[in-house]
Amino acid sequence: MTSFTRIGDGDQPSISTTADQTISGIDPLLYGGFAEHMGRCVYGGIYDPTNTNGLIDENGFRTDVIDAMKELQVPIMRYPGGNFTATYRWLDGVGPKEQRPKRIEVAWKAVEPNSFGTDEFMKWCDIIDAEPYLALNMGTGTLEEALAWVEYCNLDTDTHYVNLRKQNGRETPYGVKYWALGNEVWGPWQVEQSCKEDYAKKAYQWGKALKLLDPTIKLVLCGKDGHSDWDRYVLQECLKITDLHSIHIYTFDMQHYPNATSPKSAERAIEITAALIDLARTEMNYETFPHFSSKPKTVHRPKISFDEWNIWNPIRAPGDKGAEEKYDVSDMLAVGLWLNVFVRQAKHLGMATIAQSVNVIAPLMTTEQGIIKQTTYWPLLLFSKYMRGQSLAVHVRSPTYNGPTSPEWLSSTMDIPMLDVSAALGDDDYLNLAVVNLSDSQALETSLPSVKGPVQVFTVGGNVNNIRDTNSWGSTKVAIADSVWDGSGGFAFEKHSFTLLRWKVSPLRPTLNLGFTETTKNITAGVANSLHARDR
Ligand code: AHR
Repeated sequence: MTSFTRIGDGDQPSISTTADQTISGIDPLLYGGFAEHMGRCVYGGIYDPTNTNGLIDENGFRTDVIDAMKELQVPIMRYPGGNFTATYRWLDGVGPKEQRPKRIEVAWKAVEPNSFGTDEFMKWCDIIDAEPYLALNMGTGTLEEALAWVEYCNLDTDTHYVNLRKQNGRETPYGVKYWALGNEVWGPWQVEQSCKEDYAKKAYQWGKALKLLDPTIKLVLCGKDGHSDWDRYVLQECLKITDLHSIHIYTFDMQHYPNATSPKSAERAIEITAALIDLARTEMNYETFPHFSSKPKTVHRPKISFDEWNIWNPIRAPGDKGAEEKYDVSDMLAVGLWLNVFVRQAKHLGMATIAQSVNVIAPLMTTEQGIIKQTTYWPLLLFSKYMRGQSLAVHVRSPTYNGPTSPEWLSSTMDIPMLDVSAALGDDDYLNLAVVNLSDSQALETSLPSVKGPVQVFTVGGNVNNIRDTNSWGSTKVAIADSVWDGSGGFAFEKHSFTLLRWKVSPLRPTLNLGFTETTKNITAGVANSLHARDR
């Protein structure tokens, strides 16, 4: 959370925060990834069995990609889509590889060989130390198939799909906690697109059945962009089975300022979604579904799963051509803004997964010879490394950007400070301050009254770069520069830069409980128990 004072162009900006201004914990799952069977994300990205340059392990997994995922400390990985999910038959992707059927894949107009499936994905997650998050097919898929997939992954009974898993070489259950009830089911591009009424009815019944099978799972409801009537309606109808509410937003513009400021729209989307969640808690529908005989005393409060976010211009990088975006410094600043939004809004967020992790609209690209870390890789890395622990309140005094925005409503809805800021208190008693200077021409000499030197400084972009610089194979123009600042005087945030400052603070560890701390684990247990209680 930031409070903000607009200042004149001649006045000195300032950023104030202290270690005792904690707002909420930052869920480690905010730095999650996403791997879809789309373009070169899985085949040629994660899994590249025909690579001839010694870049694969015994599973055919790219080792350089694994190293990057480990460096990013990706805590959770969403799979297998995306739009791909709407026709995916998970059974095609398990068992002996030579027997797996090739299928026509309609979402991205491709042929799916199915040589990478559930067991390969689980193995890969295990290697990179990420939790798996699976999206269920609510397009052509049936509830029976969904139940079978949960059984295959999570149960340890002497039953058909458990035995199939064992036969396929995996004795113990995978214990997949997070399951998405479909993907962008509202979208006209979606196989078996639904209206909100049909989706809510189906999602509720699926959710109930899945939780009866495995009460420990966490279900992610399919929302839209967070500020739509779809979000309001499905939350009201399905609150009881919902542990997290999913929203998706991609931002972009050809012009620097509308492009880099565009992720601010996600801040408003999160605030509106949080309000819709509370609205659903007060207005939830007790009549549509007969099991709601009376209003429960306490209604759980799902958090948001921002499980697709990034910068994407689908005209520049079309989905059916692999969506291989090449990111520049302006995009890098936009990613800095995205992540600042997540830290500022941490109290509402249970998860965020960048779309996507490799090759497809991704911070990381592969070639036959190695990987390219795009401009956007660096803010992601710095956030994942340092912006953890507790989110801190910050007061920013800064000039504003007042020009055109994308979406247009942004400029008339929110202030857009030229310095976009978030702060986190780490468990190591470092205060971490993430600052984007959006200006394409001016450094901003800023007063930082609470800073105590020495301060570690990490800068991406800035004076050494042009705003349109990109990274390519053999040419890394944009990377992290690190230095130390003694903390005296003001700090000049370079033009078009992302800067992370860190300094040690006194070991003061307040735990401010704003009443938002009910964990999704408790929620799930609560929901499952109440479903079972109803049956007793
Ligand atoms: O991430 C690319 C695509 O964007 C996903 O498949 C879909 O869910 C979204 O529209």
